[in-house]
Amino acid sequence: MKVVERFQYQKTIDEICQLEWDSLTAHDMICVAWAYYYFSIQFRENLKIARSIYPNDEKLKDLEREECDTDNLSPWPGVADVGEKMNHDEYMRRVLEMHSIDLSQVRYFKSVGEGYLEEMRGLDDVSRALSIASYEDGGLERIFRAILEFRHWDNALLGAFRHFLSEHIRFDCDPTQGHGALSRHLRPDDRVLPLWSSFKSILITCVPRLSPWSGSGSELPAWEGSIAQQES
Ligand SMILES: [Fe+2]
Ligand SMILES: [Fe+2]
Repeated sequence: MKVVERFQYQKTIDEICQLEWDSLTAHDMICVAWAYYYFSIQFRENLKIARSIYPNDEKLKDLEREECDTDNLSPWPGVADVGEKMNHDEYMRRVLEMHSIDLSQVRYFKSVGEGYLEEMRGLDDVSRALSIASYEDGGLERIFRAILEFRHWDNALLGAFRHFLSEHIRFDCDPTQGHGALSRHLRPDDRVLPLWSSFKSILITCVPRLSPWSGSGSELPAWEGSIAQQES
C-alpha cells in the first residue's frame, strides 16, 4: 500500500477551508480582500525569491510570467484595461480602491498587513520559495473554492475579487501548464507551515466572523477594538 505523506501545513489548509465562509456579509468579504491583498504581496516576493534560488528553472520562469507583469486578468472593468499588464498584487490593490471603507478600518488593515509582511520577510528564503508550490499546487485552489461558496458578490469590488479567485482556480489546475504543474517540483514540506499559519491568522484578524469561535459575530469588530485600545 502506498503511504502518502501528509504534512501539518495541509491540515492548516483544511482549517482555512473550514472557516465560516458561508456566514460572511458582503462587508466581511471586502475585509477578506484586504487581507488577501497583503498575502498577494508576499506571494510575489516569495516567487521572486524562488526565481533567485533557481535562476535557470524554466518552469519557474513560466510561472513568473503568469503572475508578474501579466495581462491574464485583463480586462476587468475599473481595474485593468484590455491587454494591460500588471502584477497580481497590483490588481488586488486596484480592487481595494473600488469601494471606500471607514478610515479607521483602512488604518487597522494597513497596520495588520504591514505586521504580517514584516513577519513573512523575517522567514528564511528556502521556506518562502517552497511556499510557492504549496500555494500553487492545490492549496490556494482549495481555499478559493471554499471562498466562492459565498453568494453575495454584489458590488464592483467583490465582482473584481471573484474574477481574481475564479481565474486563479483556472490558472492553477491545468494538468500540464497550470501553476501547480509549474511549481510542484519544489516539493514543499512543513518548512512552509509558518506561512500558512500566518495566512490563517491574518484572515481571522481582519475578519473575526470567519472564526468558529466568534459566536454570533456580534462582538466588537477588531478595528473598533484596536481604536478603543489606542484611545484608552
Ligand atoms: Fe496570481
Ligand atoms: Fe497561480
